[in-house]
Order: sequence, then C-alpha cells, then structure tokens
Amino acid sequence: MYRQGRPSGRGEELGLCHKRRREGHAHGTPPPWATPFRRFSSSTMNRSDFAPLGFGVGLRRPHYVHILEQHPPMDWFEVISENFMVEGGRPLEVLEGVRAHYPVVMHGVSLSIGSSDPLNRAYLDTLRAAARRFEPAWVSDHLCWTGVGGHNLHDLLPLPYTEEAVRHVAGRIRQVQDILERTILIENVSSYMAFRSSRLEEWEFLTAVAEEADCAILLDINNIFVSAFNHRFDPLRYVDAVPVERVVQFHLAGHSDHGSYLLDTHDHPIRAEVWALYEHAVRRFGRVPTLIEWDDNIPDFEVLAAAAAEARRRCDLALDSKRLHAAE
Ligand SMILES: [Fe+2]
Repeated sequence: MYRQGRPSGRGEELGLCHKRRREGHAHGTPPPWATPFRRFSSSTMNRSDFAPLGFGVGLRRPHYVHILEQHPPMDWFEVISENFMVEGGRPLEVLEGVRAHYPVVMHGVSLSIGSSDPLNRAYLDTLRAAARRFEPAWVSDHLCWTGVGGHNLHDLLPLPYTEEAVRHVAGRIRQVQDILERTILIENVSSYMAFRSSRLEEWEFLTAVAEEADCAILLDINNIFVSAFNHRFDPLRYVDAVPVERVVQFHLAGHSDHGSYLLDTHDHPIRAEVWALYEHAVRRFGRVPTLIEWDDNIPDFEVLAAAAAEARRRCDLALDSKRLHAAE
C-alpha cells in the first residue's frame, strides 16, 4: 500500500527504515535488499536470494526533481546502468539521492552478451564499480546482441535460437557473473525478424541459456506479447515453459499496434491483453517484483505510480483467485 512522503510498504516488509538505509550505504554494509555477492561459478542461483521488492517504475529524467524533493511513495526504482556509469556530476548526485530513499536495480542496454565480439572488459569494470557504489538489489541486461565488429547498432537484436548460440551466450554470461561477482538477470527482448537457422523456440532458448549459465531471468511480459503477435506463437506457451525458480523480475510496458505487427515502443499505457498475460504469469510465478517501463512520451510521475499500483492490484487479485481455485 502506498503511503505519502516515505518509502512504501515493501521496504517496511523488508525491515528497512530510512535511517538504516542511509547508514548501510555510508558505512559499506550491504542494504538488506542487495543480492549477496557470488564468488565465481561454484555457487548457484537461488531465487530466494533476491529481495521481494514489490512494484516499481523506471527512474526517468523528467521525474528527477519530483522524486528527489518529494520522495513520492514507490517501492523501488530501476535505473538504466549506462546513465550512471560516469566519473561524476549530476547523474551520480541524482542516483545518490534516490538510492538514499529507495532500493534500486541496475538495468543495462549495452552488454551485448550475444555478440561474437570479445566482452568489453572496460565496460564491465565500470559496471562493477557502479554496482559496488550503489548496491543495487540486482543487475540485469538483455538476451541479445547490439553490435559486431566494433560497430554499435543501437538496437536490441535477437539471436539465432540454436544449441551453438546457447553455449556461446551462456559461457559469456558466466564470465560476466564472475567479473561482477553476482548473479545477473537476462531479459527476453521483443523481435521483428527471425533466423532461418533457429532450431529452438524462443522460450526454449531463454531457458537453456539461463540453465547453462546459471543466471536469473527478467521476464518482460510485454515483449512476450509483442513477439508472440509478430511471430504468430501463443504467448501462454511461452509463459508456461519458463522455469519458475529462475524468474526474479517482470517488466510491463506499452506497445504500438501497426496492424500487421506490434512495436515495443514503451510510450503507451499497458494494453489489456498484456495485463491479462501478466495475471497469468503471476498465477504461475507468484508475487515477482514488477517494474513499469515508460521511455517515450513520458507522462507525469503519478501516471507511472498509478500503473505500478494497478500491477499490485492485479497481482493480488490473481493470487487470490489462484488460492480460491486451489481451495475448491
Ligand atoms: Fe523490458
């Protein structure tokens, strides 16, 4: 339940208070929501290691002042990692200010885990330093490639769904987890093309990569819906095939309907069909931390907060209905 002027319900369920958060950050004690450090590949992913953050929104520039000055009720914020992988200045001040009052999660767009280029060690070292400084609850990026041959295509591109690609990507995720010393989350992307060489369904590929890399999954419900429409598969098949124990976070967003295809634009309210798919996912995966993404035509903060509240309401209803059915 949202409460005005201070961190909202989930933080209190985690046993947090404003003072303790500030102390933890100032003195280097990990905050209670931070994922424990994972020492190389010998330890394994455990869903219970990830804090039940609740319902959050993406931290976006038009809302910086409002959040820093008003501390509006919100369970947590997801930040774009690259916006804060800088030496100093305003971005770091903003994140310091937000982080003093709310749990944050770092979500990257430049890892390019699927590329055949070598991993960018400088990027990873900077990401590790930022994660050590801001102590996010977790770090995530996308199951995609964003460039090759040193060229950045500035898009999240799908991979060929093959066993060879599974081994390639999983090996690289393991390297990233070793460098960052933590389990990362990989997110399914929306797509508009497919490779003729693919031999696996997308959900089989996602599952195989996560299992072989021993990483967690950020399941973007809107991306599943968009790709299901574009590639003509049943989105329920996708949701029902992903392993429950690996899903640590959901994304929800709006998309654009172009008639013959859907485009993942993050500039609309969440559509009814995506809400319905989310409720189905909640019945399968439970009360998974859920994040509202809105990246273009960004509305007032209250609109985002209302979407997060709606996610909470629908999550509660979905779980209530599941309990009722189980009791019958
Ligand atoms: Fe997403």
